[in-house]
Amino acid sequence: MNIGVIGTGYVGLVAGTCFAETGNEVICVDIDEAKIAALKSGKVPIYEPGLEELVRRNLDEQRLSFTTDLEAAVQKSEILFIAVGTPQAPDGSADMDQALATARAIARAMNSPKIIVNKSTVPVGTADRLRTLIRGLTPHRFWVLSNPEFMKEGAAVEDFMKPDRVVLGGEDAEAIEVVKELYEPFVRTGNPILVMGTRSAEMSKYAANAMLATKISFINEVSNLCEKLGADVNEVRRAIGLDRRIGPHFIFAGVGYGGSCFPKDVRAMIAMGIPGLELPLLRAVESVNERQKLVLVEKVKNHFGRDLSGRAFAVWGLSFKPRTDDMRDAPSIPVIEALLAAGARVQVHDPEAENEARKIFGERVIYHQRNYDALKGADALLVITEWNEFRRPNFQTIKKMLKTPVIFDGRNIYDPVDLRKLGFTYYSIGRRDG
Ligand SMILES: NC(=O)c1ccc[n+]([C@@H]2O[C@H](COP(=O)([O-])OP(=O)(O)OC[C@H]3O[C@@H](n4cnc5c(N)ncnc54)[C@H](O)[C@@H]3O)[C@@H](O)[C@H]2O)c1
Repeated sequence: MNIGVIGTGYVGLVAGTCFAETGNEVICVDIDEAKIAALKSGKVPIYEPGLEELVRRNLDEQRLSFTTDLEAAVQKSEILFIAVGTPQAPDGSADMDQALATARAIARAMNSPKIIVNKSTVPVGTADRLRTLIRGLTPHRFWVLSNPEFMKEGAAVEDFMKPDRVVLGGEDAEAIEVVKELYEPFVRTGNPILVMGTRSAEMSKYAANAMLATKISFINEVSNLCEKLGADVNEVRRAIGLDRRIGPHFIFAGVGYGGSCFPKDVRAMIAMGIPGLELPLLRAVESVNERQKLVLVEKVKNHFGRDLSGRAFAVWGLSFKPRTDDMRDAPSIPVIEALLAAGARVQVHDPEAENEARKIFGERVIYHQRNYDALKGADALLVITEWNEFRRPNFQTIKKMLKTPVIFDGRNIYDPVDLRKLGFTYYSIGRRDG
């Protein structure tokens, strides 16, 4: 099939590349000329495991191409995926400017019937809105479907290739059938393609992210209580996670959730609230998360005093989670800003996110390529993102490099008893710290 994917970010690039990998001819479109130029030469501008290799192979085999020419891509394609950004608007709602501009541009470029599939995370009712918009701009037949994306950054290729489920919203059986066929190679192990109304499909994406964010805020709230009452959130997590009704995933206490999706999608869902229909649970999920991001800084100040001038801190991990360079709404940002505001010097290391971090902190922090180098002369180490390489470090080296052996672990990756034996003062989240 000939496919056009508009928007070549995390979602569009992964989806387009994986559709090419299964034999389709895919044109990926973006308005960002530098991004398209890099992609044309096989350079992937984001860090996503396994993606660059797939992009190169499909480029070489001429099933995948990149362009800024939306009109040409629309005219060559039978199916068009919209995968542009829907960032947060100032009032918390989803900013629909990119999606609406894309729909208009598709409509104006149409030369024959097209199936338009929206993959961006958009408010309920968007497919209907796009239908009305496009109908006003083209005489050609078209269908608008909703196909929300559930991939996780850091494992996006794997998730796209083997999704737990594919959700397809639409009202026209023939158009649904065409898109279903496209997805068949990805669900050969029997995971379902769920067909539903477009509004249910749109809501499913927000409900999934809000549920996951709720689990995180829930366990963080429990962790704060654990700490005050002498319980250990890790022990509690294991105990509740084995209950099949609860499950073991997404109940790890830490410095709060971040990233390009959970914060904005929870806020967008709150903004969907209809007058008279308050959403108090989601508001609480958000406010617990905002507070949680600064729990570790409070521990630093309780240890070193509120004025941190003259102090230096090493920070390991900047991206919002491991295996990505994405810094959008990363908890490391408020943590580092709070340390800087209290007068501290901050020395950072991240395996992949340094370039993204530079766009946020500029020269206000000191960057190190090796994790141990960031420790030199620091009063303490803060671990903010649980990259695998931080899990079993050489603690003797850490002790030697730090001015004082103090660790603030925002992801509970170390053992309090072990660290105490090694002579560290250790703080973590919701545990009896040694
Ligand atoms: N990142 C994720 O893990 C993830 C997962 C599931 C769903 N989503 C959703 O998918 C959508 C895309 O997310 P993303 O993280 O890939 O965004 P992104 O910001 O990484 O990429 C969006 C791309 O669209 C391009 N773009 C904007 N306007 C355009 C236009 N008019 N024509 C062509 N290109 C245009 C931008 O230049 C950018 O490259 C969002 O709605 C997001 O909420 C994201």
